[in-house]
Amino acid sequence: MLPSLVLLLSLLQRALAAPPDTPAAASFYVPSLPGIQQDPNHPLTIYAGHLSSEYNTTRLVTDSVSPHLFFVLIKNRRIADKERIVFWFNGGPGCSSFDGLMMEIGPWRSDGNGGFKVQEGGWEEYTTMVYVDQPAGTGFSYTATDRYVHYMDEAQQQFIHFLQQFYKVFPEYKRMDTYLAGESFAGQWIPFFADALLSSIRDVPLKGVAIGNGWIDPKTQYKSYIDYSVKAGILEENSAAWKEAKEATDACSTAIEKDENSMVIDECEGLLLDVTKVRQKKVGGVDTCINIYDVRYNDESPACGMNWPPEIHNVTTYLGRSEVTRALHANSHPGSWTECRGDIHRAFREAKMKSSFTILPQVLERIPILIFAGDQDLICNHVGLETMIRDLEWNGQKGLGKVETQSWSVDSMSAGTWVESRNLTYVKIFNASHMAPYDQPHVAHDMMLRFMGVNFSAIIDGSAKIPSSLGSQAKPVLVEEADAKQPMVTPPAKTPEQSKAMWEAYYNAGSAAVVLLIVFLAVGTFVWCRLRRRHVQLPTNGAGGDDEESIPLNSSIVHENGHRRSRSDDDEPMISRKGKEKEVVFDVGSDNEFEDYRQRSS
Ligand SMILES: *[C@@H]1O[C@H](CO)[C@@H](O)[C@H](O)[C@H]1NC(C)=O
Ligand SMILES: *[C@@H]1O[C@H](CO)[C@@H](O)[C@H](O)[C@H]1NC(C)=O
Ligand SMILES: *[C@@H]1O[C@H](CO)[C@@H](O)[C@H](O)[C@H]1NC(C)=O
Ligand SMILES: *[C@@H]1O[C@H](CO)[C@@H](O)[C@H](O)[C@H]1NC(C)=O
Ligand SMILES: *[C@@H]1O[C@H](CO)[C@@H](O)[C@H](O)[C@H]1NC(C)=O
Repeated sequence: MLPSLVLLLSLLQRALAAPPDTPAAASFYVPSLPGIQQDPNHPLTIYAGHLSSEYNTTRLVTDSVSPHLFFVLIKNRRIADKERIVFWFNGGPGCSSFDGLMMEIGPWRSDGNGGFKVQEGGWEEYTTMVYVDQPAGTGFSYTATDRYVHYMDEAQQQFIHFLQQFYKVFPEYKRMDTYLAGESFAGQWIPFFADALLSSIRDVPLKGVAIGNGWIDPKTQYKSYIDYSVKAGILEENSAAWKEAKEATDACSTAIEKDENSMVIDECEGLLLDVTKVRQKKVGGVDTCINIYDVRYNDESPACGMNWPPEIHNVTTYLGRSEVTRALHANSHPGSWTECRGDIHRAFREAKMKSSFTILPQVLERIPILIFAGDQDLICNHVGLETMIRDLEWNGQKGLGKVETQSWSVDSMSAGTWVESRNLTYVKIFNASHMAPYDQPHVAHDMMLRFMGVNFSAIIDGSAKIPSSLGSQAKPVLVEEADAKQPMVTPPAKTPEQSKAMWEAYYNAGSAAVVLLIVFLAVGTFVWCRLRRRHVQLPTNGAGGDDEESIPLNSSIVHENGHRRSRSDDDEPMISRKGKEKEVVFDVGSDNEFEDYRQRSS
């Protein structure tokens, strides 16, 4: 009785202390989530709910439903040298940041039985994480259907307004070292949000941004599809398939000349299909194609990666449970959670906007940027990102200049390559997909800790036990009694991949071999999930009527698929409009996204 009275009083106190229009932090507190056991050794403090993101005061008065973004905050479990906060964004446009929370960098992973279990490796270990569903309408966020965001400046204002509300509720985070991070289409969101934040809420110490397999510079990234495919062994140079892909790439290049800074270029959206056609085949009577987020895998046609990672289906089921949405304070959101929303994507006029490539330099003048890339991703592949960096002019010079690419190892495995110059850090992660943290959680976490400049000598327990080294600098490792008995092991020799290196201009200095202690972690730690991306429109080649040769993108299959998997009811009109156009949008942002196609006017 007494404890609950005390709690009640303290809640009341907080409620009274807050201005009348600001909800109390306590009203966002999530004491538990159905089916996710609190682990006493790994206690999680969670807040979640909606915050207003309407920046237009006129509309705030006139509209009956105003836009609200949704967030999940997970407090840091430990403190190293200081406290930090990271806001995380998945891509789309229109894909929910629950991808990051449930499958990539969050505190739990699918347990393989439809549930989730708390595990090591989440970024909340040393950083307060805030997963944001935006723009309004994405994930659990909501708005009136005629108020979807069409342009980047609206998305920026929504996010900034959301942040202002967030800081009213949680003022303690306003002066904390702040980072923005995300992947895929967040390669557009993040630079623009950073730019807006730096100029509008100046007392927030934004210390850096991190972008994984980002869609940043379409003009180089489209053209990289063919180069990456050759490199990855998908296409053989000068083969018939390559020549066809080359022709399409040249046509795309011509289109790019018309508007080289556009966020998407419609004429180039089919390239992904052109380069992967060669990998369409029937396996056991099933049409398969390459997984465009991880070229090591195939998927059923026409999903080509939409069914991946398999955990997405259980995530969707879990977030669809009413007791889960209640626990998350998400029930004012109408309908069920959908990973990616086609209507949000369609409303966003990418083709009419300038890409984030154009503002990277002005962001780099003020804060460090980390660009990282899982090396198995095709859709936002590392080859394109490396070309983009070579073309980028920032802080007085073009490209990285004469700097050394360092080798980097985590947990005694070669983790990737690392290079930095004038506030830009580029990291290639080995054996990782479009959703690099899904495949390599400890590697991605180590990367983020290094990027944020966490003092490794000050960390204790958990990831402090995982050895890692960058160049010749090894992280101090906490060795426990039991672990100390494990044998010493030398790190693996440089991989061919490393030796090849990507920066022809810079030599890849294999660092002095570092002797690492292997600390064996529970094998379970490595059973994880990964995830996703941005959307790409893949029109079928009108002339190529050969069914054997083309991904069956005919509308009936797509229709069925989209209908079956879509949780939103907005795909009806799209289905009928697709008709004979033989066009499909790959929602490179989502598994659920076959509903997501755009109509072409021609
Ligand atoms: C605010 O919304 C109103 C009504 O939609 C619109 O007329 C006005 O231009 C908007 N103002 C700004 C600054 O966007
Ligand atoms: C999803 O949940 C089902 C049980 O509902 C389970 O059998 C399956 O293995 C789970 N899938 C994944 C990828 O975890
Ligand atoms: C890099 O970022 C810092 C802030 O972290 C800024 O002061 C500096 O001017 C930037 N530019 C260069 C060239 O380092
Ligand atoms: C990449 O993964 C494969 C299999 O998953 C493994 O055999 C190989 O050692 C890994 N390579 C690196 C550099 O981690
Ligand atoms: C890092 O942390 C250790 C242990 O707390 C401390 O002794 C050291 O001075 C710190 N280093 C820096 C650069 O702050």
